[in-house]
Amino acid sequence: MTFPQSFVWGSATASYQIEGGHDADGKGPSVWDMMAHWPGKIVNDDHGDVACDHYHRYTEDVQIMKNMGLQAYRFSLSWPRIMPDGTGKVNEAGIAFYDRLIDELLGAGVQPWITLFHWDYPLALFQQGGWLNAASPEWFADYTKIVIDRFSDRVTNWMTLNEPQCFIGLGHHDGMHAPGLQLPVEQVLRAWHHALMAHGRAVQVIHEHAKQSPTVSWAPVGVAYYPAEETPENIEAARCASMNYFEDKSPVWSNTWGSDPVIKGHYPEAGMKKFGHMMKWFKDSDFEIIKQPLDFYGVNIYQGHPIVADDQSPKGFRDVKREQGFAQTQFYWPHDPKSMYWICKTLYDHYNIPIVITENGTSMHDWVDEDGTVNDAQRIIFLRDYMRELGRAIDDGADVRGYFLWSLMDNFEWAEGYRQRFGLVHVDYQTLKRTPKASSYWYKQVIESNGAVLRDAQVVK
Ligand code: BGC
Repeated sequence: MTFPQSFVWGSATASYQIEGGHDADGKGPSVWDMMAHWPGKIVNDDHGDVACDHYHRYTEDVQIMKNMGLQAYRFSLSWPRIMPDGTGKVNEAGIAFYDRLIDELLGAGVQPWITLFHWDYPLALFQQGGWLNAASPEWFADYTKIVIDRFSDRVTNWMTLNEPQCFIGLGHHDGMHAPGLQLPVEQVLRAWHHALMAHGRAVQVIHEHAKQSPTVSWAPVGVAYYPAEETPENIEAARCASMNYFEDKSPVWSNTWGSDPVIKGHYPEAGMKKFGHMMKWFKDSDFEIIKQPLDFYGVNIYQGHPIVADDQSPKGFRDVKREQGFAQTQFYWPHDPKSMYWICKTLYDHYNIPIVITENGTSMHDWVDEDGTVNDAQRIIFLRDYMRELGRAIDDGADVRGYFLWSLMDNFEWAEGYRQRFGLVHVDYQTLKRTPKASSYWYKQVIESNGAVLRDAQVVK
């Protein structure tokens, strides 16, 4: 298990989840500001008005990153903080905040990696139809132009959209995430298509206007079907499932419904067989916008689906029931390190562009002990197991360039409010005190040793 010398070890957050300052200094509302105040939608009626108050405490947070030895920090920009109405007027105070944050990071030796959109869509644009509006790709392009003009003198690493599966699938189909819509699948496909076009337009704008040679990608969900036992038949069935299997209700929970258009310039055939008849409206020329050169494939991976080959099933595979009492996280997500290995292998073999793990991590029940420490031993074990599988994927030929741990600090976990704690740093939401957890000291050793400590069986010392 050897990580390349140039491997980037980082951590990630997103604007609405940590910033707070929901109406500070001219920021406009986003769909999440709306949804979080919709009674009964979020666990405990929690909201992100203050969140971790990163907007006011970013210097302390950057100092924590520096102490942890983080090489890179992936964060997102709040579109309505920069453009309160989504288009038109620029909020200089919002720009100034990100200027200060970027400078602070660079001063601390931490590389900024910026996500343009991590779900906090401007409410003013939602009121004009949001992603359903055919003008939405151009709105996103205009916003990207402002960002690139203002920050690309210091920032070179860019990701356009975070997890379209969630903001379109959970946001426009299942109604669990903002803007809380439950649209028929035809409309979901339309919103999805516009989001892909927005991605393409943003990549074009970055390439046209960046002041320094940029590195560009996006960060979709990794959908990992993996062989429960690694036989040639099961491996092939898992590969097909990860790339060609589409659920009946919607195609969005797949890798290829987004990445084939973005990387290859067309929707995947297997998905079109099921959903193409609902999509007479798109034009072939749209793909000239959607397909743009990407420097890496950013993938967020938390869990997977163990399967075995089954030629009796029309799907070609069968889900394998997990054993009784299987290991799981606080979210009741399975502890599934093999998903890491197989997502890297499968995506790299299929698309042949370098991979960056843009998110991976776990929520646990963490609290501060009487001596002031947070002993999150299970998080360390979770991370060690996933990182070892990452190392195995690299050893087996996958070109993986970096790893961003989700998340730097506990934060607003969308519909789950504050009850899921994903952070390397504990946040007390009453006092806003930050307490680095044991896992943050352990991650520091991982970074310093470029992964060598992952060979140790004993993680808690
Ligand atoms: C999202 C994050 C989220 C994390 C854990 C990803 O789906 O990009 O915003 O907090 O997973 O659920």
